[in-house]
Amino acid sequence: MAQILDGKIAAQKILDTVREGVVTSTQYNFRKPGLAVIVVGDNPASQVYVGHKLKACESVGIFSKEYRLPSSAAMEEVTLAIDELNRSQNIDGILVQMPLPSHLDAINLVNRIDPSKDVDGFTPHNQIRLLQGRKGLFPCTPLGIMRLLEINNVTVRGKHAVILGRSIIVGKPLSTMMLESNATVTVTHSHTEHLKEICQKADILVAAVGRPGFVHGSWIKPGAVVVDVGINRITNPSAAPYLKLSEPERYSQLINKGSLLVGDVRFGEAEQVASFITPVPGGVGPLTVAMLMSNTLDAYRMRKK
Ligand code: GUN
Repeated sequence: MAQILDGKIAAQKILDTVREGVVTSTQYNFRKPGLAVIVVGDNPASQVYVGHKLKACESVGIFSKEYRLPSSAAMEEVTLAIDELNRSQNIDGILVQMPLPSHLDAINLVNRIDPSKDVDGFTPHNQIRLLQGRKGLFPCTPLGIMRLLEINNVTVRGKHAVILGRSIIVGKPLSTMMLESNATVTVTHSHTEHLKEICQKADILVAAVGRPGFVHGSWIKPGAVVVDVGINRITNPSAAPYLKLSEPERYSQLINKGSLLVGDVRFGEAEQVASFITPVPGGVGPLTVAMLMSNTLDAYRMRKK
């Protein structure tokens, strides 16, 4: 049976360090670090994630402010909010929660964020710094995955990492970080042929496709490390028949509470084969939030200099 890569424990370690960092950085009456979160519309998942982010700010002593805009907001309105936050003396980090309503140009909005406040690491400035192997603000989820592996003494160097998904939030930046850590990297996507066979060659398999139960146990090489980035909410049990067989406990929770969070990996099958595996929830999710706090403190320290 696989060992669990516990994201809550790892995130707590990181948050403890950030909390101490905030205390030492603010001891001579310096203002607190500040994070601004822009949310457009009422995507229910976004509401939950942003809630976690704001709560984490409070727990480590970071000032936070949420800017809610209606789903009808025009580019000009969001741009205006970003410009104002770019100028603000009390704000070190600016985050535009994704996904945005489809009428908004997400890339254009993100590109408007001052790179020194880009705690998501999505601006061209920081993307290039990552590609060049220099210091910068980098995307939180891939940073969290690298830290989770490091904290659990999982070696990346020399390993074959297969990443499912090529988003700018996870797949692309993670592939660069894995390369920087001397892994051999394969990035796959919806057009990839022979996906199962490629996955079977992975020493480290990262699933970030947003499809419940996408990765079967039979896709996993015995002893592989499995990182599940998917957070999928299931309300209809027939959408995940595999759960019935492999995860009876979680299945009953589904029936009791009406919905259930599942990853992209069939956990019950995968844990029989893998050496290490992240659960959902309690795997990568908490790390993303912890790295956002860490990035905000870094941005604050850079600003103070
Ligand atoms: N939506 C899902 N993940 C993320 C993230 O890391 N940052 C932002 N801004 N939106 C997201």
